[in-house]
Amino acid sequence: MAERASLPSVGEGIPPRLLVTGGAGFIGSAFVRQLLGEGEGFSVTVLDKLTYAGNLANLSPVDSHPGYRFVHGDICDAQLVGKLANEVDCIVNFAAETHVDRSILEPGGFIRTDVLGTHQLLEAARQARHSRFLQVSTDEVYGDVAAPERSHETDLVQPRSPYSASKASGDLLCFAYHATYDLPVLVTRGSNTYGPYQYPEKIVPLFITQALDQLPLPVYGDGSAVRDYLHVDDHARGIAAVLAHGVVGEAYNLGRGEEPISGMMVAQAVLRLTGGSDNLIQPVLDRPGHDRRYALDSTKARGLGWTPEVSFRDGIARTVRWYEERRDWWGPIKSGEFLDFYRRNYRPLAGSAPTS
Ligand code: NAD
Ligand code: DAU
Repeated sequence: MAERASLPSVGEGIPPRLLVTGGAGFIGSAFVRQLLGEGEGFSVTVLDKLTYAGNLANLSPVDSHPGYRFVHGDICDAQLVGKLANEVDCIVNFAAETHVDRSILEPGGFIRTDVLGTHQLLEAARQARHSRFLQVSTDEVYGDVAAPERSHETDLVQPRSPYSASKASGDLLCFAYHATYDLPVLVTRGSNTYGPYQYPEKIVPLFITQALDQLPLPVYGDGSAVRDYLHVDDHARGIAAVLAHGVVGEAYNLGRGEEPISGMMVAQAVLRLTGGSDNLIQPVLDRPGHDRRYALDSTKARGLGWTPEVSFRDGIARTVRWYEERRDWWGPIKSGEFLDFYRRNYRPLAGSAPTS
């Protein structure tokens, strides 16, 4: 593997004092760990509501760093957000409700945080005259993409789930704040991300933890819908590259661009790496409105010097090893709230055994 590119440091484009919202989640915490672990001279305030998906343990590697501060709170709280915005130079917004299946069960929280919360942050950044506002968004805003097409930043947004519609609305608000108030916004649109510290509801950590417990791997429909999987370290580094070098007012796709990988292929890879039996694969009723394919053209972000470095083959093996070693992190999560969601979400296909 090529030597890993280091993060830009202060003076190379990233403002020194950052408010990282949603920094106790999966990708936000990876970004904070990278920035404080590798970058020099940064101070980072994490604002996080600690929903079911937020976990302070994700930040324990940096919690004694002199540049780190944690604030427990909601991005919809205008007063709090306004106060914190005055203490920093820029906001990087990871805070969101993020799971498509939960957005289908209960869309309201997605509109609140992903649309109204984003608006509160934009307003605070405008009042504080920030030098950057980076909105972490998703390839899902482009909707289903037929092969062999790839989504470009100039494509129309055509979201199809409550989650992706709320994220697309957040993006549109960002561009409106740039056009109207000259706020220096940047939007990243990342593809499906996996790696350590991911709450075990998304396919990769769900299937790994199920396999380690010899429980069923619930594959939606025929398992043929495909995604472009990006390792979290590559995603976090891509966000840093856009923050440092991106042109304000623009969006940047962040995808690895490997051959697309289906849900069934994820299940098979996980079972091969964990030694689990193929009998654990359990077809379940498909997700309503299931997007069959996402695929990004990331030429523009690569033009900023960003190159994803972790192949799916290496990344999934590393991720399985991490979950094997860190049952202390995920074991307690797969109880109470998680089981309640799992039972509500998954319905076995007629004729197959019940999922448990
Ligand atoms: P996550 O669900 O792991 O973490 C979300 C974090 O936001 C949690 O710590 C949660 O407590 C916090 N949060 C939620 N509502 C909040 C609120 N109202 N106020 C403050 N904090 C709040 O999410 P993730 O997978 O790390 O995703 C981070 C961002 O990246 C999201 O904006 C998501 O849309 C985007 N994204 C995710 C992926 C992916 O595959 N996971 C891919 C592309 C883009
Ligand atoms: O593409 C980026 C998006 O990726 C992010 O914006 C979202 O926050 C993130 O949740 C993710 O959305 P997806 O819906 O693509 O990811 P998920 O892991 O839920 O599903 C990936 C694929 O696997 C999809 O085709 C559905 C399938 N799947 C998923 C789950 C959870 C299954 O077959 N079984 C499952 O149990």
